Amino acid sequence: MSAITVRVPAKVNLQLAVGPLREDGYHDLVNVFHAVSLFDEVTAAEPFDPAPGRDPSAASLGVRVEGDLAGEVPVSDDNLAVRAARALADRTGRSYRADLLIRKSIPVAGGMAGGSADAAAALVACNELWGLGLPREDLMEIAADIGSDVPFALLGGTAVGTGRGERLAPLETAGVFHWVFALADGGLSTPRVYGECDRLREEAGVAAPTPAVSEALLAALREGDVRALGQALSNDLQPAALALRPSLANTLAAGREHGALGALVSGSGPTCAFLAESAERAHELAALIKNVDGCRSVVTASGPVPGATVAG
Ligand code: C5P
Repeated sequence: MSAITVRVPAKVNLQLAVGPLREDGYHDLVNVFHAVSLFDEVTAAEPFDPAPGRDPSAASLGVRVEGDLAGEVPVSDDNLAVRAARALADRTGRSYRADLLIRKSIPVAGGMAGGSADAAAALVACNELWGLGLPREDLMEIAADIGSDVPFALLGGTAVGTGRGERLAPLETAGVFHWVFALADGGLSTPRVYGECDRLREEAGVAAPTPAVSEALLAALREGDVRALGQALSNDLQPAALALRPSLANTLAAGREHGALGALVSGSGPTCAFLAESAERAHELAALIKNVDGCRSVVTASGPVPGATVAG
């Protein structure tokens, strides 16, 4: 096989409960992930033959990025997809030989785990391209070393993550949920938002609570109760994201005013997520939110959807 394309979804956090800062620099979390139908595509291909006289099996790991805000994605060795391909090659003793093409639709640095999604897709694509046949459990282990959100991008669906978010248990859900995402100009740095969360807690003299999953959220998901789900959405990083980007408060308020059943910052932001009663309501809501100050664009999506999958 000379090229493999993998489609991978974005995520929104239905609950993000942030516990104390650990010694390793991460926070203990309860993180309820939900994969939505906003996809990046990663193609892994055999590199073109090298120039005459060069070793055709020489290591070569290239990356190109296309799509909205592609220019903001690093194409150096820091690119998460490149790191994932490299980690897979290291684990299996393969030489690093692949050209990766990332087609982005997931907002960059938007709190929807786009970089993590690309890493997960690169693992699946290179596993196929190189004929490694590694089982999903092995890919999950490599994924957890790349980043806390990468295992979920492999798994998809709806799942609760504990530890730093990488230990996953799939959740039972009923029905389809319809979402509107308001994209903002520029990204927010995830470490910065976590740091601001710690700072705000310290300033207020509030100790970080032990994170616990919301029973109301689990029940809403199990029953497919969209109204109850809207009520149960929560994100402990939201005050920090709003402190760093005050205009997001406007966006959230506009969504609520226009009838969203729930409104919250997605992950570390700055994307805002709105839950709608139906696909029609999501489209109406999107049209109303589009013109709010600070909103760059809107997209609608539904969930849950599967994780990284080889495209037909
Ligand atoms: O795991 P990942 O590299 O995606 O995390 C990015 C950053 O987010 C970490 O360096 C850390 O600052 C913050 N983080 C955290 N606690 C977690 C997950 C991420 O503090 N559980």
